Amino acid sequence: MYKDLDAYWMPFTANRQFKKAPRMLARSSGMHYWDDKGRQILDGVAGLWCVNAGHARPRIVQAIQDQAAELDFAPSFQMAHPKAFELADRIVKLAPEGMGKVFFTNSGSEAVETALKMAIAYHRVRGEGSRTRLIGRERGYHGVNFGGISVGGIVSNRKMFGTLLAGVDHIRHTHDPARNAFSQGQPAHGAEFADDLERLVALHDASTIAAVIVEPVAGSTGVLIPPQGYLQRLREICDKHGILLIFDEVITGFGRTGMPFGSQTFGVTPDLTTVAKGITNGCVPMGAVIAQSKIHDAFMTGPEHLIEFFHGYTYSAHPLACAAALGTLDTYAEEGLLTRAAELAPYFEQALHSLRGEPNVIDIRNIGLVGGVELQPLAGQPTKRAFDVFLDCYDKGVMIRTTGDIIAMSPPLIVEKSHIDHIIDTLRGALRRVA
Ligand SMILES: Cc1ncc(COP(=O)(O)O)c(C=O)c1O
Repeated sequence: MYKDLDAYWMPFTANRQFKKAPRMLARSSGMHYWDDKGRQILDGVAGLWCVNAGHARPRIVQAIQDQAAELDFAPSFQMAHPKAFELADRIVKLAPEGMGKVFFTNSGSEAVETALKMAIAYHRVRGEGSRTRLIGRERGYHGVNFGGISVGGIVSNRKMFGTLLAGVDHIRHTHDPARNAFSQGQPAHGAEFADDLERLVALHDASTIAAVIVEPVAGSTGVLIPPQGYLQRLREICDKHGILLIFDEVITGFGRTGMPFGSQTFGVTPDLTTVAKGITNGCVPMGAVIAQSKIHDAFMTGPEHLIEFFHGYTYSAHPLACAAALGTLDTYAEEGLLTRAAELAPYFEQALHSLRGEPNVIDIRNIGLVGGVELQPLAGQPTKRAFDVFLDCYDKGVMIRTTGDIIAMSPPLIVEKSHIDHIIDTLRGALRRVA
């Protein structure tokens, strides 16, 4: 195993801590990783919310291998290859009615930038060029590029990077532990938090606002589940004012909440949806924007030889990513994985909420196969308690994730009840040990 750890500047990592005690993954299969010493680690987070079908699935591996030998790269501007069209078609068939067009990117962050640009340009091509303002939400995570951190609302991801995009504002977040702590599924209180958008409309005027972007379930900030009626109300306010609604489904897309997309679980259809991660089971980088056909169609004017939307990436619809995604969608379909979270949700919910009363647990939240456990931060040392729980679980052979003092779980959708028990029991032990 390679020993010199100096050169690699690791992303979103405590580099010095890691390099003193590396957590080095060597191999993966099904629900498990193995580290460089051959130790088995149960994957409680689907890698990074992306390996929804589990690791090293044969159809996906084969698809990638075959594709590399057949067509390694095809230019994505003014050229294409058949699998790009096939994949777009397959995604549209899974998506809510009316969402008929797919624009490919290489990550969730790029999908977000693409959706924001689409929204602004859409209004302009329709003659409403004054609609340039973008509205995000406090605690939102929309990747790490400048548009994404501007509409995002996670302070550490923003504060180091200057003034960000101009013309951005935020509605309030939906976290309300005083009323909603230990809710099972969607919290009962907080639909009215959507009315905060009316406040921003009153301040800025709807004629200046292009779009609102939210995660249906806010994942990276620590699993915030939308209150009952909240997303419906947001949709209504957007409709009333001609504002586009963007759902960032990078985490909720591809089965995480019990339906292919969170929009279907919550019964609210956005104008644009961003996806990534589970689209290829995390095997090859890929993201996409799924757009209402009306948005695409608004661009289809002018002489036919002219490019309609000046945007795209060298690796948009990369052949390896398309092949991986098609293999992934086949695997999801054959094994019923896009609705499996709904079947397992009651068991997962019960297991997760059995942690209520364990040391320092101040809230537990869940939907589908997503769970969050919020801890009382150690006095004067925010994030340390949850990080210590993460290290303890890893030491005991279970991978979870933490943000701040919140533990997040999102196991692959192939998870069995025995795995859920193992994850929760290990976490229970860690909470007791770290306390
Ligand atoms: C909701 C959401 N949007 C965007 C992203 C960014 O995706 P990527 O890391 O692929 O750029 C993430 C990643 O976790 C995410 O959760």
